Amino acid sequence: VAAPVATAAKTDVATIAHRGASAYAPENTLAAVRLGVRMRADLVEIDVQQTKDGELVVVHDNTLARTTDAEQKFPDRGPWRISDFTLAEIRTLDAGSWKAPEFAGERVPTLAEVLDVLQRGPSGLLLEAKSPELYPGITERIADELRARPSWVRPDPKARNLVVQSFNWDFIRDFHGLLPGVQVGVLGAPSEAELAEVATYSNQVNPNHAQATPEYIAAVHAHGMSINPYTVNEAPLMRALIDRGVDGIISDRPDVLREQIHAA
Ligand code: G3P
Ligand code: CA
Repeated sequence: VAAPVATAAKTDVATIAHRGASAYAPENTLAAVRLGVRMRADLVEIDVQQTKDGELVVVHDNTLARTTDAEQKFPDRGPWRISDFTLAEIRTLDAGSWKAPEFAGERVPTLAEVLDVLQRGPSGLLLEAKSPELYPGITERIADELRARPSWVRPDPKARNLVVQSFNWDFIRDFHGLLPGVQVGVLGAPSEAELAEVATYSNQVNPNHAQATPEYIAAVHAHGMSINPYTVNEAPLMRALIDRGVDGIISDRPDVLREQIHAA
């Protein structure tokens, strides 16, 4: 496992744009990713899943129903699982109108497109593998996509800032075996008894903010890992977590979070 991550000083707290700057633009679209970059997020978080034809796409839910017009365009294909649609079909969908009319025409991006956008700016990537247990082969596919872009996986400090995380800890252990130079994180809150084992392969523990108590933060740090709670959108809670010594915060409002970090 990589070297332990030191406890961050308050001003080093990472700003992580959740599903892009998703308070202001449709989650997991290029518009939200670009806005996260414009808001100077240290990392932009996205959710990656796999289509019927094995392509990596960026969507949060396991179905397309909530964040696209799949129900209108494909009325007889319910429940609109991502794994039942090809990339070509998914590319016909509107992934922006549900948020606001100005985003009409936003598409479901591929992971490759998000990497292309981020490569042109300073923000890194927090890549969540969402429900990887649904998608045979997805561990190797994500590793291959990243390996094809050496700037993200080069084994030195000039590598772009990249973390791969998942609620599926077996996926994270397997991914770490494939690309041991890439930082990884487990989502959720391993028990104190589980932290020692998690620390053998993971660099981060990223829990719901309700679990980020001072005691739990200290326990994660004691095992040499960093802690980045989600999803924190209100300034008072941001301030409280910064004061408790978290290493990063995952927020739909990266602009508000930056202000709070700089005021700390
Ligand atoms: O990055 C943490 C957070 O995204 C996990 O929850 O459901 O928003 O993917 P969810
Ligand atoms: Ca996520």
